[in-house]
Amino acid sequence: MNNNNLLQLTYISRIGEHVTAAQIEQIHHQAEKNNARLHITGVLVLTEDYFMQLLEGEITAVQTQFAKIAKDPRHTDVRIVSEKSVLTRQFPHWHMGLTRTLDHHEHADLAAVINLYGKQPHFSPQHADAISLLFRSL
Ligand SMILES: Cc1cc2nc3c(=O)[nH]c(=O)nc-3n(C[C@H](O)[C@H](O)[C@H](O)COP(=O)(O)O)c2cc1C
Repeated sequence: MNNNNLLQLTYISRIGEHVTAAQIEQIHHQAEKNNARLHITGVLVLTEDYFMQLLEGEITAVQTQFAKIAKDPRHTDVRIVSEKSVLTRQFPHWHMGLTRTLDHHEHADLAAVINLYGKQPHFSPQHADAISLLFRSL
């Protein structure tokens, strides 16, 4: 696949109030299946209250899938943290990696930042850079 024109989009959202662990498994399963078909890669991380997801792939594929995800009732307050064009994928091997950040001590920094960002209405380029750096530790 030609990798010259990739879109990398990161958003944060609030997990729906009654969303169970089983539903999160289902989201993960749906994401892996659809993203493999659409050549979308990325990662979905979560804390107790928030999802943060990075999606990367062909521009239209990512935009279309994000529009669908943003309307999903299993989360609310969907806000884009960063949207940029990239030449290479950050997570080429994950159609949708899932990390329960709170289960992993080594991801405590990322969990703390997600919980902080989760309360913010919008984000600066500095916020986006901080998240991008923390995602490199995954
Ligand atoms: C936080 C969150 C992340 C999601 N991520 C993806 C994703 O990466 N890819 C995907 O296809 N669906 C994702 N979904 C599910 C979509 O909103 C939608 O339910 C799904 O794509 C529908 O799949 P279907 O057309 O196979 O029924 C996500 C949903 C939530 C709540």
